[in-house]
Amino acid sequence: MGLLRPALEDIQGRHASPVVVDAGSGNAYLGFILYELFFKDAEGGVVLNVEGRPELTQRAKERAARLGFGRMEFQTAHLEGAVWPERIHLLTALHACDTATDDALAVAVQKGADHVAVVPCCQAELAVQLKESKAAVDSTLSLVYQHPWHRREFGSHLTNVLRALTLEAFGYQVTVTELTGWEHSLKNELILGRRVHRDNRQARAKLESLLATYGVRPKLTRLLGVEPAGGAPTTAVTRTPPV
Ligand SMILES: C[S@@+](CC[C@H](N)C(=O)[O-])C[C@H]1O[C@@H](n2cnc3c(N)ncnc32)[C@H](O)[C@@H]1O
Repeated sequence: MGLLRPALEDIQGRHASPVVVDAGSGNAYLGFILYELFFKDAEGGVVLNVEGRPELTQRAKERAARLGFGRMEFQTAHLEGAVWPERIHLLTALHACDTATDDALAVAVQKGADHVAVVPCCQAELAVQLKESKAAVDSTLSLVYQHPWHRREFGSHLTNVLRALTLEAFGYQVTVTELTGWEHSLKNELILGRRVHRDNRQARAKLESLLATYGVRPKLTRLLGVEPAGGAPTTAVTRTPPV
């Protein structure tokens, strides 16, 4: 909550009815705490929880009703098919599995969310792509991920580096930090983003270059139409203008 407080104070200071979306919300623990601390006594504002498993949504919905948390909303949906509010002021995703974090980040970028906060979970996508990639194969760079264990760890690290760089390319100021002590979770990397520009061309060039260096295309860049340097022309992303 301490790490999210600046974002919440910012959106509550600037918007009468701020919208927080928690993607892959599970039992909505994060949403309940946010609501209790920041929304319960406020005049307006909504915490929308989007979760793929209906039984979790149902249970959390009943709990919200019991607590009288009237502006807590729930949607059972796969993130790729969810119906999103027109404006999102803060998007969170806490341990959303594998590429669900990418789905969440893509929505944040497309909706021009003021703030994002994600703690990625396990991720396997890039390990597979690195194995098949020809890009760095003749370079000493490939020694970093020759063994399957290293490929998994390095793939996970590279995924988060690319996520942070993608946010920067789309105008976010990014902070990467530790969520909690390692004794609580090995999935401990918190990526915070605050939207400050429309775009950042330097970051975009670095992102495209990094994709080309390793010959990878993680889901987030595919969803946002970012190609490796020297690849196919990039496509424009439709984004909600900031209010
Ligand atoms: C590890 S749990 C974390 C739950 C919650 N964010 C928390 O921290 O307590 C991941 C949750 O994301 C949901 N999830 C994973 N992929 C999803 C997707 N593509 N669409 C919707 N929900 C998804 C799972 O059903 C699960 O409830």
